[in-house]
Amino acid sequence: MNQLKFLEIDIGTPSYVKHDGVVEWVTQIASLTTPERVHWCDGSTEEYERLCDELVASGTFRRLNPKLRPGSYLAWSDPSDVARTEDRTFICSKNRDEAGATNNWREPAEMRALLERLFTGCMRGRTLYVIPFSMGPLGSKSAHVGVEISDSPYVVAHMHIMTRMGRKVWDILGEHGSFVPCVHSVGAPLALGEKDVAWPCNKENKYIVHFPETREIWSFGSGYGGNALLGKKCLALRIASVMGRDQGWLAEHMLILGVTSPRGEKTYVGAAFPSACGKTNFAMLVPPRALRGWRVSTIGDDIAWIKPGADGRLYAINPEAGMFGVAPGTSQKTNPNCMAMLKRNVIFTNVALTPKGDVWWEGMTETPPRELLDWQGKPWTPQSGTKAAHPNARFTVAGAQCPSIDPEWENPQGVPISAFVFGGRRSDTVPLVAEAFSWTDGVYMAATMGSETTAAATGQVGLVRRDPFAMLPFCGYNMAEYFNHWLKLGRLAARRPRIFCVNWFRTDSSGRFAWPGYGENMRVLKWIVERCGGRARAQESAIGWVPEYDDLDWRGMPSFSREQFERVCAIEPEEWRAELAAHDELFEKFKAGLPRELQLRRELLQLDLGV
Ligand code: OXD
Ligand code: MN
Repeated sequence: MNQLKFLEIDIGTPSYVKHDGVVEWVTQIASLTTPERVHWCDGSTEEYERLCDELVASGTFRRLNPKLRPGSYLAWSDPSDVARTEDRTFICSKNRDEAGATNNWREPAEMRALLERLFTGCMRGRTLYVIPFSMGPLGSKSAHVGVEISDSPYVVAHMHIMTRMGRKVWDILGEHGSFVPCVHSVGAPLALGEKDVAWPCNKENKYIVHFPETREIWSFGSGYGGNALLGKKCLALRIASVMGRDQGWLAEHMLILGVTSPRGEKTYVGAAFPSACGKTNFAMLVPPRALRGWRVSTIGDDIAWIKPGADGRLYAINPEAGMFGVAPGTSQKTNPNCMAMLKRNVIFTNVALTPKGDVWWEGMTETPPRELLDWQGKPWTPQSGTKAAHPNARFTVAGAQCPSIDPEWENPQGVPISAFVFGGRRSDTVPLVAEAFSWTDGVYMAATMGSETTAAATGQVGLVRRDPFAMLPFCGYNMAEYFNHWLKLGRLAARRPRIFCVNWFRTDSSGRFAWPGYGENMRVLKWIVERCGGRARAQESAIGWVPEYDDLDWRGMPSFSREQFERVCAIEPEEWRAELAAHDELFEKFKAGLPRELQLRRELLQLDLGV
């Protein structure tokens, strides 16, 4: 909103903020949004605790029983504001073609005019918080600074956990450093004397807007997750993917994990899965006891920034400082590390409350508690016939609390990646694991990845949604150009990672999962890591290198038979005929922009599979 005229108001800039550009911008936004006061966040523990106290006093937070869940809080959102809103998310590049076929686009001037109307006076009666934050370890060459303006203290508390935020960021920014301006409002101004609600938001209007050319983010109307914590999906994926395209690196929707072998060799893996495919579980996997000496450590659970190193390898950092994970389904069985991580200092959103002041969600225990308050604060029993926790209920927790956190997780140089893994939720077609024949083949695998929708996400079960690189909602520019960027970057890297696809979700004829998943996924991960080290055998198939039964380590799992293995690995020509038709349909969207390599690879697959 460069042309916007603004009134000079006193925003009380602290003396340690030396950046005229920031001061001018904050003044401009304060003049537009007319808050009651301005608070510059310092990122201190005292500030976090004061905010939490205020959130308890205002009814947004409920303090959990300090004996059962010390330092932890529970928030229940407005039922209309429970998830990212992809249909309200816009990429406003100058030309529609820059945003590509998979993004919502609006003409930038038109969107700016709309935002100006929406943001005028939208913080009335509220505090405008200025939140300086670094995505990536403070001062790392791979890190990028953002400044979020928000009128939500809930967002500020989250930014304390999810990013490195506070005074130190001003030192990094200095007088002229570049930053991504992020403006957020819940879009619920308060009239004089009007009492606030526990979860302010705007039920009519939600806009999550990105201007990739000027690298700005504007978010209106929602206080939830990726819609409001603008460092996460908006900056670290949508805007960063554009920066990566322009500067020769990658911003990916990937967890990063380390695997240590009994010989002490360490291999780092980046893995991309669409939402609701168990990324957090995979990032914190506990190997079966029988695979003695193998360990998995966690660098990150959601986002990776990957840059070429001088040695020709690709190095990844986790730009986030915390985890904002889905609670339902997390249990001692599915993710013991996560359960240990959640013992203290957690903000929970939209889970259920027990009579003793602790939390509960579906899947946490086999037998649900006899009574609860559900995520809307209503009395709940197992007979209620509704979910006690919202399916997208979340925990927010510092990465440092993760028992499996890798000692290198804050290394400013990042960790060298040996393998990329791509996986979706597929009840058929895609085998348990396959290794791409080449980088180009791997890019094809990732570009055509699909995942079956779950009721939680769409209300419809079992439809395959194509989600290239698990980046469909997160790529800030034309997806066809993004495929090309991957192809180019791989060609430039002298020591490219190998690329694999996995599928933990094949089902048997009665619809039950045919692969046990969770910790047993270590057997597949071990094969992947050994392939990278040149130590595991594989057979050629039409779609890539695949293991035979004896190529996986079955110690401690004698009951999984050769036949069962063959079922989860089967490549059925009839299923692949339909699969390739679906790839074609996806490619149609990109028209002439699609890299020729991908079209050729599809044709080759068709011939090799004989379909
Ligand atoms: C997330 C997502 O919240 O991918 O991480 O939806
Ligand atoms: Mn995610």
